Amino acid sequence: MQELQQVGAEALPVPGDVSDEASVRGMVETVMGEFGRIDVLVNNAGISTIVPAEETTLGDWERTLAINLTGPFLTSREFGKEMLRRGEGSIVNISSVAGLLGIGDRAAYNASKHGLIGLTRTLAAEWGGRGVRVNAVCPGWVKTEMDDEDQAGGGYADADIEGRVPMARFATPEDIAQAVVFLANPEQSGFVNGHTLSVDGGWFGDGSWESLRRSKQGS
Ligand SMILES: NC(=O)c1ccc[n+]([C@@H]2O[C@H](COP(=O)([O-])OP(=O)(O)OC[C@H]3O[C@@H](n4cnc5c(N)ncnc54)[C@H](O)[C@@H]3O)[C@@H](O)[C@H]2O)c1
Repeated sequence: MQELQQVGAEALPVPGDVSDEASVRGMVETVMGEFGRIDVLVNNAGISTIVPAEETTLGDWERTLAINLTGPFLTSREFGKEMLRRGEGSIVNISSVAGLLGIGDRAAYNASKHGLIGLTRTLAAEWGGRGVRVNAVCPGWVKTEMDDEDQAGGGYADADIEGRVPMARFATPEDIAQAVVFLANPEQSGFVNGHTLSVDGGWFGDGSWESLRRSKQGS
């Protein structure tokens, strides 16, 4: 919040749970009360669940789907109503490379992120003609608290990710933010709707076997 204010932006923290309908309605009321309009919604909140499929409990599954998929549905529906009333707006859903590919030990997470792309395309089809664009960004791995916690749990190490990506590095938060800003801004992406934008250094597009990919990294 302070960082935003330092660059001259007006910022209003609105704590809440995206998986809770009443909480999401409260967020909309607070934002509308303060600003009177909503131009952009970025569905970024999410949790990671790393566990083998056969050991995934119903609780793991439901919690992951509730936050990563039901949450964006509720926020899109409630914030989207305000956008539809004005006939303009942009929704950007943060999916993942795990929304495009199966990645082991992530049944609930990957299902939620695949589902989010389906939701994106469907809302784009329904709302595009009424001025509201809906797109998704699919980040590769980013060094955030989520990555710290997943690595601390023994899920993987930096070298695993760097070895899988043609550009041989993690995404930076700025890499992802630039893609979000592009999709949010109608002057830059006014005819982009229902799109899934990978920001993953080439991960999704690369079907090379591991030794071939490594032989090309940095060469
Ligand atoms: N870090 C990565 O490598 C990576 C890769 C691909 C996609 N993503 C996606 O990017 C998004 C951001 O992830 P991150 O890495 O910054 O994770 P993070 O854990 O650092 O941050 C996630 C944020 O979501 C919030 N959140 C969790 N549950 C919530 C709820 N029920 N209601 C409201 N807020 C809630 C948390 O408070 C936290 O601020 C997530 O959707 C994640 O799945 C992350």
